[in-house]
Amino acid sequence: MALPGPLNRYLLLMAQEHLEFRLPEIKSLLSLFGGQFISNQGTYGKSPFWILSIPSEEIARNLMKRTVCAKSIFELWGHGRSSEELYSSLRSYPVEKMVPFLHSDSTYKIKIHTFNKTLTQEEKVKRIDALEFLPFEGKVNLKKPQHIFSLLEDYGLDPNCIPENPHNVYFGRWIADGQRELIESYSIKKRHFIGNTSMDAGLSFIMANHGKVKENDIVFDPFVGTGGLLIASAHFGAYVYGTDIDYNTVHGLGKASRKNQKWRGPDENIRANLRQYGLEKYYLDVLVSDASKPSWRKGTYFDAIITDPPYGIRESTRRTGSQKEIPKGMEKCPESHVPVSLSYHLSDMFFDLLNFAAETLVLGGRLVYWLPVYTPEYIEEMVPSHPCLKLISNCEQKLSSHTSRRLITMEKVKKFKNRDQSSHLPNDHSLLYQGHNSFREKYFSGVTKRIAKEEKSSQE
Ligand SMILES: C[S@@+](CC[C@H](N)C(=O)[O-])C[C@H]1O[C@@H](n2cnc3c(N)ncnc32)[C@H](O)[C@@H]1O
Repeated sequence: MALPGPLNRYLLLMAQEHLEFRLPEIKSLLSLFGGQFISNQGTYGKSPFWILSIPSEEIARNLMKRTVCAKSIFELWGHGRSSEELYSSLRSYPVEKMVPFLHSDSTYKIKIHTFNKTLTQEEKVKRIDALEFLPFEGKVNLKKPQHIFSLLEDYGLDPNCIPENPHNVYFGRWIADGQRELIESYSIKKRHFIGNTSMDAGLSFIMANHGKVKENDIVFDPFVGTGGLLIASAHFGAYVYGTDIDYNTVHGLGKASRKNQKWRGPDENIRANLRQYGLEKYYLDVLVSDASKPSWRKGTYFDAIITDPPYGIRESTRRTGSQKEIPKGMEKCPESHVPVSLSYHLSDMFFDLLNFAAETLVLGGRLVYWLPVYTPEYIEEMVPSHPCLKLISNCEQKLSSHTSRRLITMEKVKKFKNRDQSSHLPNDHSLLYQGHNSFREKYFSGVTKRIAKEEKSSQE
């Protein structure tokens, strides 16, 4: 495979949260910015230190303007399994690559970062002194340095077994920090309009990143709720649109979800949420509509569909319809038919969602959604598929001992033709998907059993 020019090595310092979501986020963002995920490191499982080969610092900076899974990125000057190995690696790093950042009229500072161990000030100073052999010619400035260098020591993942010496030591030039502060500044605790199932800010940004949302995109959430997912996409410059079956949610009416408040206030709605963050210009609209009966003309409208369908735990899975048989002759007069609601099987809901995405996404557009699963029965084949959609990633978030939800990301790789619509449901597979239908019962049976067990053990 031909590589796009010379690659430089960078060190990513990852946050130790949502571990499974990290690699798809970094891969998605790199592909958005023209970089390719190339790395010699075999494991990205749990370590916070990732070595990455990418063609330019610009791509590294763009990546950090988006990621919420990575804390910082460094241009990697040296790496070893011991301090000695690090020093010899640093000695072989080309001096001409160092000099622009070390010349006499520059200012700098060296920071020490350790993982799974705390060093004393004295130990830190010792480590900095040991780097004297590097051709630093500038002046130290601790408050506002032009360049920041970091020595990072990795003492492994086990807090009960901290080694004397680090497993890995890295040295590099700090380039940029990621967007971790968004988790706090967009926290739903401080959000104007929230509901029982409002999506956590960190996960909303991760979903938008998995969806490769970019400026001027059109992003749709068919199960919009309080619009948590729209906010993250709008923050990245996309125009957002949503639908929900619940009239009160869409119109910001009814009971409030906050503890000390009975009813929702006059301006508690999705538009006001976007306004709160200075993103109102990205608001297209939200409508009351049933996702099982999309009212769109045929066409490709969306760059991404990012959504959190109901699982039936805190909100019901309903669709419009009637259990009563429609009297003969009335079928042609839908205006005389008042829709009541029917239960909406989870499996049907996911098939509808995939079909809708296959039909309305632009080529290369992504569908990102949560699939609830009962973990003892989960197998990968249960994840719904569609011939127009390629599975990009499938990451687990545990909800309880027996249940989890999986963040599924798919990309439209083929134009939608009507015949595709039925071809994604081979009979043997459709049986597997039926398992999703009883998620609610399984969720509560798991919870009930756990509570009973906890009560029993507390009485013993
Ligand atoms: C998990 S919540 C979405 C929460 C949302 N992400 C947020 O941040 O507030 C699922 C939403 O789907 C809506 N819903 C349920 N059945 C629906 C249907 N058939 N069509 C459209 N929306 C539906 C519910 O009213 C609920 O607001």
